[in-house]
Amino acid sequence: MGLLYFVSILAFWGVLLVKAEDAYKYYTWTVTYGRASPLGPSQQVILINGQFPGPRLDTVTNDNIILNLINKLDQPFLLTWNGIKQRKNCWQDGVLGTNCGIPPNSNFTYKFQTKDQIGSYTYFPSTLMHRAVGGFGALNVYARSVIPVPYAKPAGDFSLLIGDWYNTSHKALQQILDSGKPLPFPDGILINGQGRSIFNGDQGKTYMFRVSNIGLSTSFNFRIQDHKLKLVEVEGSHVLQNIYDSLDVHVGQTVTVLVTLDQSPHDYYIVASTRFTKTVLNVVALLRYTNSNGIAYGPIPAGPTGGVEWSMDQARSFRLTNNNNFGFNQLEPIKFSSQYKILVN
Ligand SMILES: *[C@@H]1O[C@H](CO)[C@@H](O)[C@H](O)[C@H]1NC(C)=O
Ligand SMILES: *[C@@H]1O[C@H](CO)[C@@H](O)[C@H](O)[C@H]1NC(C)=O
Repeated sequence: MGLLYFVSILAFWGVLLVKAEDAYKYYTWTVTYGRASPLGPSQQVILINGQFPGPRLDTVTNDNIILNLINKLDQPFLLTWNGIKQRKNCWQDGVLGTNCGIPPNSNFTYKFQTKDQIGSYTYFPSTLMHRAVGGFGALNVYARSVIPVPYAKPAGDFSLLIGDWYNTSHKALQQILDSGKPLPFPDGILINGQGRSIFNGDQGKTYMFRVSNIGLSTSFNFRIQDHKLKLVEVEGSHVLQNIYDSLDVHVGQTVTVLVTLDQSPHDYYIVASTRFTKTVLNVVALLRYTNSNGIAYGPIPAGPTGGVEWSMDQARSFRLTNNNNFGFNQLEPIKFSSQYKILVN
């Protein structure tokens, strides 16, 4: 009787332990060249599973990602998971030094865990100027349902991959750099690989916008006509939730804002414009109320007139809150550090 009792307890814990194991998610991604015309002229781009930009990788805290990457390019290819901590796992980070490029016509299986992380991140090719022509995408880590986050669940969330863009090939760009010249001024700026995206939402509801700078060299300012941006996360850390009219986002950085659709129902301009550049490049997308009864009108909202100082002051206003306990300890602000690098053209 005693033994049976003991065995049944063991069996019970065994089941619990198995149940408690973190989820495994399996992916097969094939990387190919394709063609797209993001700025008008048709050009070669890099596709993942036929998509430009690449597929959005939606994960949950502690997920185990098993991702088989098949390289069909004519060059070695490597993806890096920007912001994923890769604890004791640096050889999965996908940068030269810890990984070799995946040779053409072969594959490599990344295995990593989004251990104790939450937030908006990106992945992108880390070698050979590939990221200039695609292969990048959003990487979101959602909180587990038992973990509270310091804001109400939004009605939906959008990933906005914004970056400077060149209408030349990555090989041509590499030749320019190899010849000792600097990168030329970009030909344009894109949101999610295009010049005219539309984001739909219901009047009165609040949406999350995950805004990433996946460009090569240029900072941009992001704003939505007549709407306030409530900043809730920077680089995977929750922040004190200040309200902004516009936000500067520097290369490699991701900011997450909540936007309440509290205006009259029509379309509004979403704008990103280059910062610290003599010529200002703009890209305009639309925020469309689902009950919209009209097109966006009025002037495209102007960006800040302040320069680098303005941008530094804004970055200093992002007071990170201690994120280690995922919402349980949001009270301790930590000081802004030198995490942000501003690139001046
Ligand atoms: C390459 O892909 C095959 C399946 O398509 C898989 O069995 C193999 O483990 C992969 N190799 C590597 C190194 O990931
Ligand atoms: C690329 O864009 C530039 C503008 O920056 C333009 O002058 C040039 O004609 C474009 N190239 C092609 C091939 O269309």
